[in-house]
Amino acid sequence: MPYLCNMANNHVHIGLVSGFSKKSKQEKIKWISQTCFASPQLAKGILETYWHTDEKLQRLHDEFIENAVSNFYLPVAVAPNFVINEKPYVMPMVTEESSVVAASANAAKFWSIRGGFHAEIIGTEKTGQVHFLFSGPHQKLAEFFTDVKPKLLQETEGITKNMRKRGGGIVDIELIDSTNNLNNYYQLNVRFETADAMGANFINSCLEQLAKTLQNEATIYSHFSETEKQIEVVMSILSNYVPGSRVKAWVSCPISDLGDDGDILAQKFVQAVNIANQNPYRAVTHNKGIMNGIDALAIATGNDFRAIEAGIHAYAARDGKYSGLSKAWIKDETFWFELEVPLAVGTVGGLTKLHPMVKWSHELLQHPDAEGLMKIMAVSGLAQNFAALRSLVTTGIQKGHMKMHLLNILNQIGASEDEKQVMVEHFKSNVVSFNAVEQALTAWRKT
Ligand code: MEV
Repeated sequence: MPYLCNMANNHVHIGLVSGFSKKSKQEKIKWISQTCFASPQLAKGILETYWHTDEKLQRLHDEFIENAVSNFYLPVAVAPNFVINEKPYVMPMVTEESSVVAASANAAKFWSIRGGFHAEIIGTEKTGQVHFLFSGPHQKLAEFFTDVKPKLLQETEGITKNMRKRGGGIVDIELIDSTNNLNNYYQLNVRFETADAMGANFINSCLEQLAKTLQNEATIYSHFSETEKQIEVVMSILSNYVPGSRVKAWVSCPISDLGDDGDILAQKFVQAVNIANQNPYRAVTHNKGIMNGIDALAIATGNDFRAIEAGIHAYAARDGKYSGLSKAWIKDETFWFELEVPLAVGTVGGLTKLHPMVKWSHELLQHPDAEGLMKIMAVSGLAQNFAALRSLVTTGIQKGHMKMHLLNILNQIGASEDEKQVMVEHFKSNVVSFNAVEQALTAWRKT
């Protein structure tokens, strides 16, 4: 049964397809262009425009994911003048949002002459779980677990060997009884250190081995009844909630260094942060601003921004209520601003050795290890939060935001390069809005 799809006012009939992943790239493009688009030639052309001219490099990108047909560009920008623990950095940032890089660069410059940013690691431990069902007395399972624990560790040794050489491995395994929440439900809660890797594959491989050993050992455990021997593993997977892997970043300076109205700014700033800590509607937006900085760096350095987002938002709700992630306070005429977030990031493995732009970003950051990158990312989040709050409690966000958005509007309405220059000049002293830009351009064209 074909599905109806409205494309540019033409109805296109989309059918189902089998064996799609086995088709060649050309065949895939032909099928989607002809099946899903009103103008197949145009659709195919757009995909081809974004192919890399270097075929080898294009193949590399094609092999990152299944059914790749083209590339999706996002701009790479840099934000200079970050000083973190007294060392200067230029941040690579990948984002589509016009004001994010400018905000970073402003905050970096502002703090570079006020002592810079500071950051420290609070922990680097990650967690994974084997979720399983056991029907029998808890005490018997606890005894079995104590007996079998050395075997559990021993049977992962093949997997953990290299990681142990790099200072990582399994830290500990605990048995958790969750039968009060769900019938027969237990977990092996496993804590890991993964050195400079994000560690997802390592953790999941360990967990799957642990699950296998757990099940096998149960079948030959003489104190178990036949029912108890049948441990049912539901799933084995790492957790993206990583409160054991946390980093703190902060800035501070005498209030008088904040500018002419430093005391007012500092007080408003603290109020804004307190509001985010009190009000979930505000907290989500406040934290979104922080994630503007963290995600842009996560993408540039080839890290999994979805995992980072999930973990950080869960942390923001750790007390049962979603709150802002940063803190601000004034003590002894000094302004303090701090961000503490959980982060699991890698500087080896994954895309770090594969994607040329990811490699480039790591070099730009002077090849940080995972702890170094955690610090840089937390600073990036704090810088964004600082820039956003400073605008919000002073000029309002739209002034800077719309200035940055001006070029997007001009591109959207087809302004030429010369017209863009004139409009940028014009809007240095006028308020930007879509209508205002359209009107100003029309008026200019008539002159
Ligand atoms: C926009 O991407 C982010 C802000 O809304 C963050 C904030 O409100 O704190 C400006």
